[in-house]
Amino acid sequence: MNPPFSPVLIFLALACPLHVFAFGNGKVIPACFTMEPQHGTTAQTSPAPYNITISQETYKAGDRIIVTISSNTNSTLFAGFLLQAREASNGNTPVGSFLISNSDMQALNCSKTFDAVSHTSNKKKTSIQVTWIAPTDITSDILMKATVVAEKPTYWTNVQGPRLSFSGGSISGGSSRPNIMSPVIYCGLFMLTALLK
Ligand SMILES: *[C@@H]1O[C@H](CO)[C@@H](O)[C@H](O)[C@H]1NC(C)=O
Ligand SMILES: *[C@@H]1O[C@H](CO)[C@@H](O)[C@H](O)[C@H]1NC(C)=O
Ligand SMILES: *[C@@H]1O[C@H](CO)[C@@H](O)[C@H](O)[C@H]1NC(C)=O
Repeated sequence: MNPPFSPVLIFLALACPLHVFAFGNGKVIPACFTMEPQHGTTAQTSPAPYNITISQETYKAGDRIIVTISSNTNSTLFAGFLLQAREASNGNTPVGSFLISNSDMQALNCSKTFDAVSHTSNKKKTSIQVTWIAPTDITSDILMKATVVAEKPTYWTNVQGPRLSFSGGSISGGSSRPNIMSPVIYCGLFMLTALLK
């Protein structure tokens, strides 16, 4: 006899709690791994008309760094974004966490608490600003990376900020980062659908 739900479906549901962002009020499903919306078109290949700037270019554990995504021109406002910090050399998973200070943004739990941030409404924006808190278990260079949606179906992926280098300080227990690749891959199957619908 077949079980009522396939083990694979149950695993997917457990592995990707982010599907709760699929619907309603501008919330998005972040594609944790690819940062790609899925709507049948592809990312723009032109240089993105957006920049990411950071308040400092070095970090130590626990530093609070202000990250700004802004439009370069007055004609390329953006409706949505998904922002993560990733290790520059091995950037498959988000690191650190974001501190949200206003209702235009929401922190998402991609592979850990508040390691991604996205918009809450598709109102056109010229810039957004958010605080990123540096992790305590990483010493590698970090890049802020965003997918920015101008409006359906136009978006740019891999919008990057300047390199953020580790500036020293003591790190404890640096060898014990969990392996969260599997959930991240499955999360990658879920998309920015709501925004682009
Ligand atoms: C945005 O980035 C581009 C390319 O890195 C740079 O040429 C441009 O001056 C930047 N614009 C702003 C407003 O920072
Ligand atoms: C945007 O518009 C304002 C005023 O309308 C102007 O002062 C500014 O230079 C413009 N910025 C860009 C990047 O075009
Ligand atoms: C993210 O994780 C935090 C703490 O673990 C929790 O309080 C919050 O509700 C979670 N957010 C979502 C959207 O699951």
